Amino acid sequence: MDKKNSPKNILITGGAGFIGSHVVRLFVAEYGDYQIFNLDALTYAGNLENLKDIEQAPNYSFVKGDITDAYFVNDLFSQINFDGIIHLAAESHVDRSISDPLSFVRTNVLGTVNLLNASLQLAKDNTDFLFYHISTDEVFGSLGREGFFNESTAYDPNSPYSASKASSDHFVRAYGETYGLPYIISNCSNNYGPNQFPEKLIPLFINNIIKNKPLPVYGDGNYTRDWLYVKDHAEAIDLVFHKGRKGETYNIGGFNEWRNIELTRLLCQLMDKKLGRKEGTSEKLITFVKDRPGHDLRYAIDASKINKELGWKPSVTFEEGLEMTIDWYFENQEWLDHVTSGDYLEYYIKQYQTQ
Ligand code: NAD
Ligand code: DAU
Repeated sequence: MDKKNSPKNILITGGAGFIGSHVVRLFVAEYGDYQIFNLDALTYAGNLENLKDIEQAPNYSFVKGDITDAYFVNDLFSQINFDGIIHLAAESHVDRSISDPLSFVRTNVLGTVNLLNASLQLAKDNTDFLFYHISTDEVFGSLGREGFFNESTAYDPNSPYSASKASSDHFVRAYGETYGLPYIISNCSNNYGPNQFPEKLIPLFINNIIKNKPLPVYGDGNYTRDWLYVKDHAEAIDLVFHKGRKGETYNIGGFNEWRNIELTRLLCQLMDKKLGRKEGTSEKLITFVKDRPGHDLRYAIDASKINKELGWKPSVTFEEGLEMTIDWYFENQEWLDHVTSGDYLEYYIKQYQTQ
């Protein structure tokens, strides 16, 4: 087949996870002429229920596999000529990285390097090839009360998770410098929305409020995060993949900072309304617990580069996004019960027992 006329084969790793599932859905819907391959190991965080609505789409295929397995990755890359890779597969939860750092080294560092190695041949044969690495603002470490992370902020990771992501970013850049691999990296702030595993702050607290369980706020709750609706992140990824400049990095954020305790109170108010509970009922569930070791005080992204170069900005306000998120978790309690059964429950009990 003439390569020029063949459809674009795009590999999305981690497509059964939270952000990956939104990226896969967007690409399958928007690019009917591409073949979208979703490579995922289906760890506790990956769930094909997240993609039920598109599983029969003619331009979508699922491949179950582990990116830490170099033989598997090389074999897959020898069978399919990928024109581009959007790499999201990762261990993503900071608290888990504190209790099990090696899993983060394996997946986030070794897994990324396996994909980079396998990509080198594809990039030799195809000048349009792109390795797009999805990373986090946590690689920059912690801000004080003032200032923002921009693309030239020095890396200063504090958790095993962010150290593993920083390492994978460095490897991607190093493969660009050393072997000429065409790449782009984007570093995004905290995402929220449908399909997020209920170990992260927003879905954990929604789930706990529904079930009348304590809301474990770490430390004094004055830690600050910059929240972005996941579909806005997926749109940004689409733009960067198609229009971003190779060899560049882009910061993506919500211009939407909240202290954890304020966000928790807002969630409690919205949930009281939703559940028809008396105002103030859910706030009684707030429980201050032992702080996360190495807890970063504040993240905030200066997203002016992606805004100026690619015209991206968040389209969903926090009020709209939270409303849609809460509605989704209400309508998908079976999903919640399913993903929080089994091993996860055991983990949760060990990790988050309140003081
Ligand atoms: P997630 O934990 O919800 O999903 C990760 C996915 O990767 C899962 O489907 C899992 O099965 C898969 N996976 C894990 N190990 C694998 C392996 N060895 N081989 C193949 N697949 C494997 O993560 P997420 O929150 O959707 O994050 C996706 C990416 O975006 C990550 O790289 C993360 O670092 C980055 N990121 C996340 C956020 C956020 O707020 N969640 C913000 C910025 C960047
Ligand atoms: O900034 C981007 C990062 O955001 C991503 O790279 C990570 O993959 C993602 O998990 C997220 O990391 P955080 O550590 O910021 O997210 P988390 O939801 O775990 O915590 C948000 C804040 O809430 C943080 O300050 C810790 C606090 N927290 C979290 C939990 C789970 C609590 O106070 N109580 C909790 O139970």
